[in-house]
Amino acid sequence: MSLRKKFVAGNWKMNKTFIESSELCKNIKQGLDKKLTSDVDVVVFPPFTSIYTVSEVFRDSGIMYGAQNMSYKDDGAMTGEISASMLSALGCEYVILGHSERRQYFHETNQIVNLKTAKALSSGLKPVLCVGETLEQREQGLHVKVVDEQITLCLKGVCAVDMENVIVAYEPVWAIGTGKTASPEQAEEMHRQIRNSLENLFSATIAGRTRILYGGSVTDKNAGELFSMNNIDGGLIGGASLKHEAFIQIINSAL
Ligand code: 13P
Repeated sequence: MSLRKKFVAGNWKMNKTFIESSELCKNIKQGLDKKLTSDVDVVVFPPFTSIYTVSEVFRDSGIMYGAQNMSYKDDGAMTGEISASMLSALGCEYVILGHSERRQYFHETNQIVNLKTAKALSSGLKPVLCVGETLEQREQGLHVKVVDEQITLCLKGVCAVDMENVIVAYEPVWAIGTGKTASPEQAEEMHRQIRNSLENLFSATIAGRTRILYGGSVTDKNAGELFSMNNIDGGLIGGASLKHEAFIQIINSAL
């Protein structure tokens, strides 16, 4: 039995109105054996506009929820942004930070992700820190270096105690939304490398305790094999989390 509790999360990205979100959450709640949520941490990340609705449906269900992004500022003149305290007030427990789509389309750098990580932690939110290389970087043999740099820079200044609340998600950019999953061996190798980076930055104990999720074209068909690898502690699921049957199946395969 691993000392790390499995963690399965759905990143809905820019999908689902609040009405559709309510429907999806009701179906997830109904289809999920209540006992399962004590064995696996189940979290959904809806768009901001659905968080309140999701909080209502999931009340007392044991299913958790969070946001896909957050500002590193507390408040003020930041049109279009959402603060940590706004998310906490809605009962969010987690926040995804540094997703590759944020890095790619919204120019988020490791430095910005680092500021957000610090803000989330000081506000009582648990970051799901996303890292991962592009296809070009992998082809040039730079994947280990790139991911180590992301981990090092994004976690700069984070103290050992706060690492209890950090989850890492390894999401190779070439596997996101492409149907091209990393093989269990490829993913396992990178998860081991990430644990190495964490050991260098903090300690072997912290490296051994931190949950590292795999993300990128996870489906109900391939989840079981991925989750059975030693260093893979669950998944961050995109497309397949938008259908309750597939998502529930994926959660079940984490047991
Ligand atoms: P897909 O599962 O759709 O490939 O997306 C993965 C992802 O980006 C989760 O954050």
